[in-house]
Amino acid sequence: MGRRELEERIEKRREDFVRNSLLSDEFIDFVQENLKPVNTMMAYYQCAIMEVETKFKVLSEQHSLEYDRNPIESIKTRVKSMESLLKKIRRKNIPLTIDAIEENIQDIAGVRVICAFQDDIYKLAKCFLDQDDVILIQKKDYIANPKPSGYRSLHLIVKTPIFLKEGKKMITVEVQLRTIAMDFWASLEHKLRYKKSIPEDQSKYLAEEMMDCAQISSALDERMQKVRDVIMQAEKKEEE
Ligand code: GTP
Ligand code: MG
Repeated sequence: MGRRELEERIEKRREDFVRNSLLSDEFIDFVQENLKPVNTMMAYYQCAIMEVETKFKVLSEQHSLEYDRNPIESIKTRVKSMESLLKKIRRKNIPLTIDAIEENIQDIAGVRVICAFQDDIYKLAKCFLDQDDVILIQKKDYIANPKPSGYRSLHLIVKTPIFLKEGKKMITVEVQLRTIAMDFWASLEHKLRYKKSIPEDQSKYLAEEMMDCAQISSALDERMQKVRDVIMQAEKKEEE
């Protein structure tokens, strides 16, 4: 790296730093001035998470009763942290108002459903979306169309009601459905991505390596699914 390039980089870092800290102040002021509405907003997102999690637990329970098998391995939920909410507001240039945040940021409430097999994902998604109080806003099928990184999952942005004493309020929730293999890959890739010490000349090699791992994990899902299908066929025959 030349001296000029290095200086440019340092200057950019400095500008980023100044911009971030300025906006941080603005954000802190906003939170302080709107402490109650901000807390209420976050509490509503938490309530919507509980509603969505229950919906998946009910579907899983019913499936278990019917087929003696649980299609959901685990469910993880989270409300977006203030820090990452701020980063997104800044990145997307969203005005600092509760309405603008609710309207433009769709992943404040996050529910991740980890399934055993790939076809469980589509079955569960269909049952969930068929419910008359779940409104689909956006569907991204990164299983049929993986991201350039190799990332796979089915993403649903939905609106679902929470019931307050004044009546119902529709809340946006991001649901990510994945298999164990998809979750394994995504969790490790997420961890690796934040390692700052990766040398730049290795980054292409590392991206290719992660893509290769994603393909292996996808092949694994397919083989596991096939094994499951063979077993299910055998069970059906036995019942006949
Ligand atoms: P965000 O603004 O980051 O939420 O992205 P987006 O609005 O383009 O939505 P997208 O559906 O692409 O991704 C949303 C979420 O999916 C992220 O917050 C991650 O949880 C997950 N995700 C997407 N791409 C990747 C990836 O390449 N690796 C990993 N580990 N997770 C990913
Ligand atoms: Mg996100």
